[in-house]
Amino acid sequence: MSMVCLTDFEEYAKEHLSKATWDYYAAGADECCTRDDNLLAYKRIRLRPRILRDVSISDTRTTVQGTEISFPVGIAPTAFHCLAWHEGEMATARATEAINTCYITSTYSTCSVEEIDAAAPNGYRWFQLYVYRNRKVSEQIVHRVEALGYKALVLTVDVPYTGKRRNDIRNQFKLPPHLKVKNFDGVFEENAGPEEYGIPANTLDPSISWKDVYWLQSLTRLPIIIKGILTKEDAELAVEHGVQGIIVSNHGGRQLDGGPATIDALSEIVDTVQGRIEVYLDGGIRTGSDVLKAVALGAKCVFIGRPAVWGLAYKGEEGVREVLQILNDEFRLSMALAGCRNVAEINRNLIQFSKL
Ligand code: FNR
Repeated sequence: MSMVCLTDFEEYAKEHLSKATWDYYAAGADECCTRDDNLLAYKRIRLRPRILRDVSISDTRTTVQGTEISFPVGIAPTAFHCLAWHEGEMATARATEAINTCYITSTYSTCSVEEIDAAAPNGYRWFQLYVYRNRKVSEQIVHRVEALGYKALVLTVDVPYTGKRRNDIRNQFKLPPHLKVKNFDGVFEENAGPEEYGIPANTLDPSISWKDVYWLQSLTRLPIIIKGILTKEDAELAVEHGVQGIIVSNHGGRQLDGGPATIDALSEIVDTVQGRIEVYLDGGIRTGSDVLKAVALGAKCVFIGRPAVWGLAYKGEEGVREVLQILNDEFRLSMALAGCRNVAEINRNLIQFSKL
């Protein structure tokens, strides 16, 4: 099978994964309006290409938090990679190391952070964190990833409670017995009652608030990036609380249904932040021109969630590499066709605002 674009991987994954696994990865909350709008919103944006600008040489490199990556696309944190491929997150880590981009490892990994580190010791990684009622659980993982050389903490703030994903309820989705949330092996009590997505239900702390950012800062010297901001008001608060970055994200439409597509929320956040910290985005990135549009509207880098999992389902490490490589090739081509020789030349003049 010849893989030409990211949706080819989606079709493959849909055909080859079990129904419950496919439904889990595909899920959005409630009626999936926000999940679907994440993609549709890119189709509403038109570009203003420039011509005759000698695009014989193009450079897709950029930096995030001062580190160079090969192009402005990384891997968003997604849970349970072993459901898609037996080597799970270790395969994802090897692929991102090979492509030289950033892999945000999910708390809910089915390989431990130590196993991931051993699989790709030179990879550039951030760690995604949730805050638990039992703060010691969050604390121990922060210390572990800091010791392993993770370069930033990504605090996900859009899950005070898990969104209602209808098919997961219908399928009574749970991890098969041979898989575990490996980072928490022995941390939560065995048989501690009903489980939700691999750990005891009600372990996440819905009382989390801005003061917990200060608590996290007191635990670590790592940069803190807040994932799940969708408004200028919260972007301003994030800057005021001294974090180093924001990921504009709606969790792939899996949490609040009815919120904005992330690309539609990006501009007000970029305008508010005014370059004081880096702004990133995830949700609905499926083509190189989606990346170009997000970067033109001010994202320093974007992250892909589901497409990485489809790559895993196709061929493990090689599949994730192919997904990233196709996106890199498409981005390079879109850049050149729009008259940009490097990432610094991509700006808002590329966007046709009259059509928005
Ligand atoms: C996620 N996402 C997510 N986010 C997070 O902070 N921690 C996590 O463990 C997970 N797990 C997870 C599992 C699955 C199956 C999906 C699809 C998503 C959200 C993820 O980081 C990201 O915000 C979206 O996936 C981006 O949208 P796309 O690229 O999937 O459209």
